[in-house]
Amino acid sequence: MKHETLTVELGERSYPIVIGEGLLQHAPKLLQEAGISSKSQLLIVTDEHVAKNYLEPLREVLATEGYRTTASVIAAGEQSKSLSVYDRIMTEAIQAGLDRKSAVLALGGGVVGDLAGFVAATYMRGIDFVQLPTTLLAHDSSVGGKVAINHPLGKNLIGAFHQPRVVIYDTSALHTLPKREVAAGFAEVVKHGLISDEAFVDWLKENADRLWELDSELLAKAIQRGCAVKAAIVSEDETEQGKRALLNLGHTFGHAFEALSAYSALNHGEAIAIGMCIAAKVAERVGIAEKGVCEQTERVLSLYHLPTKWPAGLTPEAVLEAMKRDKKTVGGKLALVLPRAIGHVELIKDIDEEIILTVMREEVEA
Ligand code: NAD
Ligand code: GLY
Repeated sequence: MKHETLTVELGERSYPIVIGEGLLQHAPKLLQEAGISSKSQLLIVTDEHVAKNYLEPLREVLATEGYRTTASVIAAGEQSKSLSVYDRIMTEAIQAGLDRKSAVLALGGGVVGDLAGFVAATYMRGIDFVQLPTTLLAHDSSVGGKVAINHPLGKNLIGAFHQPRVVIYDTSALHTLPKREVAAGFAEVVKHGLISDEAFVDWLKENADRLWELDSELLAKAIQRGCAVKAAIVSEDETEQGKRALLNLGHTFGHAFEALSAYSALNHGEAIAIGMCIAAKVAERVGIAEKGVCEQTERVLSLYHLPTKWPAGLTPEAVLEAMKRDKKTVGGKLALVLPRAIGHVELIKDIDEEIILTVMREEVEA
């Protein structure tokens, strides 16, 4: 089994991120190594698209080592990160007889991971959880233990921190991913460069064509680098008391776009791609960004076929109101992650709302 292993260092809750082609075939061994017992039933949460290709093969291979599984299959898409779908999965888990030694396996992208993780965090006050990511974006969402569902008024407002026991990232699953979802995944890969590593951004620019075609060697490198950036920050600041907020570059805008479009018009990667461009414009306007940051941000995102312009139909005033419900807002004061340079971002508090509104209004007119 050819693979790379990174570790999220969190003391006794440390866990491996195992990355490689064909790893789902080795899931039983990796679960055993992570201490997941075969005595109690496992719940696999997945969505309809992923289930088609990967659910039965996973159940079969797990059965060979005595793991008993039940499955909850949800509708694909962000709208499933809801209280009603959460309620349905909880009911299925209780009816299937999951106990406190059971584990929840999230087989899918970030939607499945966030939702299944929140089920695991809350079922019988918390049971084990394993991430089996199948999207490129999930190199980010499967690491770090943020689990959540959405509220119609705001994204990820109902959630917990609940770390997985292991992340098993079978990169061969990415070959069935629609191109729009590949692009969305690159938004988070690019974000990991923009927040911490200018050389990685240059590498992503130089190799965009081959990465877009999912060249396996380069893709593995991009995923490893993205996971490594995330793992290092999470290891330092698990519950976002400080540095972890930097992972939210573009997200205060992006989450507002998602909530205001009823979690349907833009996917998460597209929303944060636009959000990162607007954050760069705000940074230039308040005078903290080096010259060229906006242009370079837009350029690298465009190479991965991501949108960079204001989403049609949304008003700056409504976006600002939605941004105030962001989790970084404290006492009504907005805090934004803004770039100073490519590879260097900061959390800036108390930005004048008028500046944000002015930048957004110019975007609408552009
Ligand atoms: P997703 O889970 O909706 O997957 C995107 C689409 O691809 C879906 O239609 C899905 O069915 C399909 N799909 C998944 N794997 C496939 C495969 N291998 N082949 C074919 N189709 C496949 O979306 P996503 O982009 O993976 O995740 C977005 C979510 O992640 C958002 O809700 C976002 O808030 C969350 N997120 C969470 C964190 C975190 O730290 N918890 C970080 C970043 C993003
Ligand atoms: N996506 C932001 C974080 O994991 O902290």
